[in-house]
Amino acid sequence: MFDTVGMIGTGAMGGATARLIAQSQPEKALFLSNRTVEKAEALAKELHAWVSTNEEIAKGCALIFLAVKPQMMPDVLKGVAPVLRARTDRFVLVTMAAGLTCETIQTLAGGAYPVIRMMPNTPITVGAGIITYCGRDATDAELTTFAELLKNAGTLDPLPEHLMDAAGAIAGCGPAFVDLFLEALADGAVACGLPRAKALLYAAQTVEGAAKAARETGEHPGRLKDVVCSPAGSTIQGVRALEKGGFRSAAMEAVIAAYEKNLHLKKGE
Ligand SMILES: NC(=O)c1ccc[n+]([C@@H]2O[C@H](COP(=O)([O-])OP(=O)(O)OC[C@H]3O[C@@H](n4cnc5c(N)ncnc54)[C@H](OP(=O)(O)O)[C@@H]3O)[C@@H](O)[C@H]2O)c1
Repeated sequence: MFDTVGMIGTGAMGGATARLIAQSQPEKALFLSNRTVEKAEALAKELHAWVSTNEEIAKGCALIFLAVKPQMMPDVLKGVAPVLRARTDRFVLVTMAAGLTCETIQTLAGGAYPVIRMMPNTPITVGAGIITYCGRDATDAELTTFAELLKNAGTLDPLPEHLMDAAGAIAGCGPAFVDLFLEALADGAVACGLPRAKALLYAAQTVEGAAKAARETGEHPGRLKDVVCSPAGSTIQGVRALEKGGFRSAAMEAVIAAYEKNLHLKKGE
């Protein structure tokens, strides 16, 4: 299944997804198209893939990734709709656009074609990402093959479509929130005298390690925090400073703000 895979849009996420496919299943014929063709050419050279056009991909690929920004999607699908309509074989469209539902993709594409909606995040580039996904008119076998194709991304988690916007708000946008926290931790350490490179290394390893411990032990983060906070110790003083600065409320509001933006995107706002 999916012997021919097309990627329309070879930007950050399209490029990362194409790399995952090329690495895990190099036998797949991978076709790339991009508005700025030089970008597709460079990636094709790197991955031993083929440079193509949106129309050619729409005409011939069994799995067609639509890796363009949500606001570009109507134009891109309008452009390929006649080609899709003329096909008599089965093909699956894959969207990763924030806020756009499978149903919207079908409407824009002009037919009830099988659609898989995925929400990736940037850590897929280092095999530590999350891809949540759901399908509409796609078979279970197609969803399984899709997940197999991207298995090197990190965690692949099927999710009901009504939860995809919430998942995108934490997993899709979350890396930027964590990066902000990393930078701030490092700034604090630099203020205390550590060289920048060491401060960044320790901040990143601490965030990675704390996340790994929470995930692997299954312990509630509050309990793990309690373990580090000795009575009258330094950590609880740091926790006090974070609480004073509204840290937890700010983190919650960040996710909710991103979620609300996803809902606006869905309405085309
Ligand atoms: N980045 C993330 O963390 C993230 C996370 C989750 C989901 N997503 C989703 O992933 C999708 C892509 O985002 P991105 O961050 O990869 O954006 P990006 O880096 O801007 O890539 C979009 C690519 O689409 C190309 N493009 C635009 N119009 C086109 C057209 N008509 N035909 C062919 N290619 C066209 C652009 O070409 P040019 O080179 O000419 O600009 C660009 O390379 C979006 O829908 C976004 O919502 C992104």
